[in-house]
Amino acid sequence: MYEIAKIIHLVSAVVFGGVLFVEVVMLPVLKKEFGEEFFKKVEFTIIRKRGIKIVPLFVLSLYLSGLFMFHYHMKDLDLSTTFGKLLLLKVSIAFAVILGVITAITMFKLGKSENRLFDYIHQFAFIAVFTVIILAKLMFVL
Ligand code: HEM
Repeated sequence: MYEIAKIIHLVSAVVFGGVLFVEVVMLPVLKKEFGEEFFKKVEFTIIRKRGIKIVPLFVLSLYLSGLFMFHYHMKDLDLSTTFGKLLLLKVSIAFAVILGVITAITMFKLGKSENRLFDYIHQFAFIAVFTVIILAKLMFVL
């Protein structure tokens, strides 16, 4: 069961990280080429027609599979080890990310996606998620 949760976790992380990569690295090129207004229209359409329907499902499966695996480690989690410290750091950053995701979804639903905070949350989530992915691998090798 743990191995299945790990596959679900990994696939969800790829999708979630990929979405943030497109949003923060790829799409902003439209801003330079076609202006802010066009960019916001494209972003709004992508999120409204597709993103808001599928991304939350992957985020949910990412966190549920993560919590499921975490409960296996919880019993003998030793914070004096590098594994323990890095796992706790990874999970703490992941929880900051979920707060950002909830805020961004709420802002979008309230029609506040034009607000700068919406972009800042995406940038923060992008950096944080890639940090979490690196920590997830480093915790086994350091
Ligand atoms: C932004 C959210 C998250 C991302 C992007 C993420 C990403 C990853 C990745 C890429 C791995 C490595 C999987 C592998 O080696 O196959 C991993 C492992 C792990 N994650 Fe997450 N994770 C996130 C949130 C969480 C949360 C919230 C928890 C627990 C509460 C968690 C617990 C774990 C555990 C226990 C492992 C070790 C799995 C193993 O035995 O290899 N993760 N995570």
